[in-house]
Amino acid sequence: MEKPEVINGNEAGKTALQRFAAKLRELRKRAGLTQQEFAEAAFCSPDHITKMERGVRLPSSHMLRLMLQTFKEHGIDQGSLDTLEQLLLACKLAEPAPVAVSNGKNPEQAVAAPSRPSNETAPPVLPVTAEEEDEWDITIQTHIMPLRAAQLDVKNNPEMGRFSQSPVAQAVFGRQKELDDLLRALQGHESYKAPLAVITGIGGIGKSTLAYEAAAQAVQRGYYDAFIWESAKTRQFNHGEIEAIEFPSPWSHFSPTLTFEGLLDSLIFDLGRDDLLENAASLETKIGTIIQELPKKRYLLVLDNLESAHNPRLVLVYLTQMMQQTNTALLITSREVPSYFDGFNLNLRGLDPASSVNFLQYEGRVRNIPPLRDNLKDPEVAQAVGQIITETGGHPLALGLITRQLTTFSLDRVLEDLRTGYNEIASLRHRPAGGLYSYLFRNIWENLTRPAQRLLMRLVPAQGKYLTETEITTLAGIAPEERVRYDLALAELVKFSMLEVTGEFQKRYRLHPLTINFLKTGLIEQWQKAQKS
Ligand SMILES: Nc1ncnc2c1ncn2[C@@H]1O[C@H](COP(=O)(O)OP(=O)(O)O)[C@@H](O)[C@H]1O
Ligand SMILES: [Mg+2]
Repeated sequence: MEKPEVINGNEAGKTALQRFAAKLRELRKRAGLTQQEFAEAAFCSPDHITKMERGVRLPSSHMLRLMLQTFKEHGIDQGSLDTLEQLLLACKLAEPAPVAVSNGKNPEQAVAAPSRPSNETAPPVLPVTAEEEDEWDITIQTHIMPLRAAQLDVKNNPEMGRFSQSPVAQAVFGRQKELDDLLRALQGHESYKAPLAVITGIGGIGKSTLAYEAAAQAVQRGYYDAFIWESAKTRQFNHGEIEAIEFPSPWSHFSPTLTFEGLLDSLIFDLGRDDLLENAASLETKIGTIIQELPKKRYLLVLDNLESAHNPRLVLVYLTQMMQQTNTALLITSREVPSYFDGFNLNLRGLDPASSVNFLQYEGRVRNIPPLRDNLKDPEVAQAVGQIITETGGHPLALGLITRQLTTFSLDRVLEDLRTGYNEIASLRHRPAGGLYSYLFRNIWENLTRPAQRLLMRLVPAQGKYLTETEITTLAGIAPEERVRYDLALAELVKFSMLEVTGEFQKRYRLHPLTINFLKTGLIEQWQKAQKS
């Protein structure tokens, strides 16, 4: 690195930022648009454009998409659009972290930090109001990248940006309270051991998105010098289908699922010790190196999708030991609440209705769905939106899927689809991989014990109500002598995130509306038939 003094990296970011700002202005003028016209075409406020052109604000990735689209429509050539995109990437990645470097930590290895355009020191939090970014109440994405991505020379090789592996930054709605809680947990306390936190919830509820945001903000606030992102995920839901994902991760070359040793390889790679991998170093050498390297900085390690690891419990036990030994904080996401876990647990629920509305409106604009885009005040549209939110329980993946379907089908058809699993059945017939419900529930359902399956079925009539344990016992008709078995079944459903839980001491449980819709795709009939025979 050419700049050894990285206590405040603003100088480094400034040129990239100014170049981006200048390019933006140049392209807008070439397109023959005023700031006002450009703002309208790109669905943002003129003020936002002004700020970007002054180099005091960066667009989020969705905003960039809208701007590029607008330029394209106004005849700007692809080469110039690419340049703009690369300049933005350079701003987001090239700037060294403005972290306070303490106790002899090596400042040269400071990682990429958010672009802070001004010359003052960065405030610990980025309090971005709705007007500053868009008209929406977006929980702002920071531009901090995980360690590996930050080390890649993206400025000169934009291709490398793809290797970042963590969720691509896009608009995040709601989640402010969850974020605050997580950040508090991650802040830890000097005299305590390294923080340990887990985010649990059903697939697509937003665990990875939140983990990414929390990790980036924790670094931004200076709780950590950098975060490392590892994912055990092997499948993803994309455009209505489940597809296998192949990572450019060291572990994925050797094993179809993440093992502890694979995780070590990934860590070695992230810490820049690829030489050990090339020389096929022994396990002892790898562990020794990691234990030596990690304490050199205050790291937060994020392990996404622990449940997909080959042996989640083993990975967790070894990993937590190693993290405590190296004083490294750990943030995990998992569909299942890990056993033997002794840390902060955030069970993630759907987006609250207001955030769901914001999300739908945003999607309406990005995808050009006129009623969602402009007519939310129309009572008919408002009612439809209410229905979408009720049926999905604010599940962001499902909300996104619905808006995508709305570009082709009517709302009635889309909701019917969600309730009956029509698409699911059709896709199961043609593609055994299946659709949304297969991705979210099928494996879990098939691996539940009989009492847990039975309890789930008996909870269906409660339709989205939060129930106490006593109410569950009554509703499910559980006799006192069956109590223990059902307590275990309840614990099992909670462990696999089939139930959402609220409350501190007096817990309340409910089936997620999507769980009910999943059960209604034929499983209830199957179940009843099996009971009779
Ligand atoms: N708060 C949010 N606002 C907007 N979109 C979200 C939010 N949380 C998640 N999403 C979107 O929903 C989808 C699923 O989120 P993800 O974080 O991958 O869920 P999980 O990790 O729980 O499976 C992604 O497309 C993500 O961009
Ligand atoms: Mg995820």
